[in-house]
Amino acid sequence: MLDLLVRNVNLPDGRQGIDIAIEKDRIIEISPGISAQAITEIDGAGYLASPPFVDSHFHMDSALSLGQPRLNESGTLLEGISLWGELKPDLTTEAIKKRALELCRWSIARGTLAIRSHVDICDDRLLAVDALLDVREIMKPYIDLQLVAFPQNGYLRYQRSAENLRRALDKGVDVVGGIPHFERTMAEGSESIQLLCEIAADRGLRVDMHCDESDDPMSRHIEMLASQTVRLGLGGRVSGSHLTSMHSMDNYYVSKLLPLMNEASIHAIANPLINITLQGRSDSYPKRRGMTRVPELMAAGINVAFGHDCVMDPWYSLGTHDMLDVAYMGLHVAQMTGLQQMQQAYQAVTDNGAKALGLEGYGLEKGCYADLVILQATSAIEALQLRPERLFVIRRGRVIAKSVPSQCQLMLEEGKEEVNFSRGLF
Ligand code: FE2
Repeated sequence: MLDLLVRNVNLPDGRQGIDIAIEKDRIIEISPGISAQAITEIDGAGYLASPPFVDSHFHMDSALSLGQPRLNESGTLLEGISLWGELKPDLTTEAIKKRALELCRWSIARGTLAIRSHVDICDDRLLAVDALLDVREIMKPYIDLQLVAFPQNGYLRYQRSAENLRRALDKGVDVVGGIPHFERTMAEGSESIQLLCEIAADRGLRVDMHCDESDDPMSRHIEMLASQTVRLGLGGRVSGSHLTSMHSMDNYYVSKLLPLMNEASIHAIANPLINITLQGRSDSYPKRRGMTRVPELMAAGINVAFGHDCVMDPWYSLGTHDMLDVAYMGLHVAQMTGLQQMQQAYQAVTDNGAKALGLEGYGLEKGCYADLVILQATSAIEALQLRPERLFVIRRGRVIAKSVPSQCQLMLEEGKEEVNFSRGLF
């Protein structure tokens, strides 16, 4: 007797009419027409069963703090950073935890079961570190939360960053972060990359740096990040987040950079919602979009994931932490509207994110963890079109969230009702 059997679902790769057999926390079979009994059976009704969404770049310490202590009037990155600086002295562990736990609930409801969150270590009290380490433990049964020690004010620029980063890692923060373009000089940016990569290599950790989040085509820290990754044998364990300067770089230089990034097996993480709103701010017209070169990176064999980055905080006053919104924006900004490209955009918020985070047992395959989401859509592309209800969110074989299918009652003619599901075509 199985614990759970999900009947008749479609998969993001296009397979249809699939059953998923689950025992304890694992998928033990995934194929059409499984003949077995189960304690619980879910009729998938031809809807899409997807691996959970993965947010590969987020800031949980600032999420849902919108308006504290005031709103970002200019909407710029720099005002966001100074606003966060104004808020920091008033933060408490309890307040950060409360907001983060609420955010996790939003995430689960929308089928996101893995989040990599940067946590600012430039507050000497490390309140956010303590708060998010607690949240990581509390939410462990439901969400894989990976924390990045992020020196928001610069690793070299803020004098206590080195000590705070070491303390944060000693406390159990998972990943080494950085922000080379925010150091005082290009040279100090390079130096910070070298020092931080060496710390990661010594401790056997992953690296994820905010890298070149700028419209300056000469911001080329990704080159140094790739080079240090190769030198220290960190291939596959390093992510470059944002990489927006690449949008503005010279094409010839990019043609040299892409193979270097490929050689280093670096993951590129774009944040479409944030990049499209924060970059190009000093342009008149034409205004640059600012997002990194997603299709070109993918074509060069580099793993590209998308992150949400912010939800209602000093940098971004919008967002519901729905990774389908992120993929939707990403494919628009990158003009990835071809059918295969839309599939790739879907992968950027699922499989590719899992790869960047190094998640084990992720995916809809025999032997993987029984983590999945059933959406009110019949394919990955339809999910992007509709950004539909997440009917069931399943974690380790247990349903942890359910939604009622959405439908609309139309009453166009007097006395006549009609149900409309707004279904797509695929
Ligand atoms: Fe970020």
